[in-house]
Amino acid sequence: MSSGNTRTGIFVATMTGLADMCGEEVEIALSGAGFDCERQLMDGLDASAFEPFDLIVVVTSTYGHGEIPDNGQALFAAVEAGYDLSGKNYAIFSLGDRTYADTFCAAGDRWDAALTACGARRIVEIERHDASSGTLAEDVAGEWAAGWATQIG
Ligand SMILES: Cc1cc2nc3c(=O)[nH]c(=O)nc-3n(C[C@H](O)[C@H](O)[C@H](O)COP(=O)(O)O)c2cc1C
Repeated sequence: MSSGNTRTGIFVATMTGLADMCGEEVEIALSGAGFDCERQLMDGLDASAFEPFDLIVVVTSTYGHGEIPDNGQALFAAVEAGYDLSGKNYAIFSLGDRTYADTFCAAGDRWDAALTACGARRIVEIERHDASSGTLAEDVAGEWAAGWATQIG
């Protein structure tokens, strides 16, 4: 895969907006590396929203006991029910807090399992941001994306 003309969909699930700030930094980093990016909140989407893209980037926080944020639940359910995403690549930036030891960043892991089950291929390790770490999630997100964007490009 090379970055040029890679149609990249950045899909964001968030409760308070931090994950969207992270998605914005991912978009800036990938666009700067030549990826053709479109960023959207997951609200109201079904699995066909993935169709136009070669690369799917999921940016999600975790709520409840390892739950997907409310605005991502319908899209996640559609993917978990089964949808052909073979030929597509994906990457995941996962926000959480190690205070929730048993469910740290579980939503990102659930997306990973669901996307793999649909035939998509993860191109980079999942990045898991810990809100208790003292680092800014949006900074880590941008650095993460810039790191693999140049490798792929
Ligand atoms: C009520 C509540 C429940 C949470 N549950 C989890 C959890 O189960 N696992 C986890 O890793 N983080 C959990 N978190 C931490 C959030 O995922 C983290 O603060 C994240 O940065 C929020 O991003 P957002 O503002 O984009 O939703 C929880 C936070 C709150 C307020």
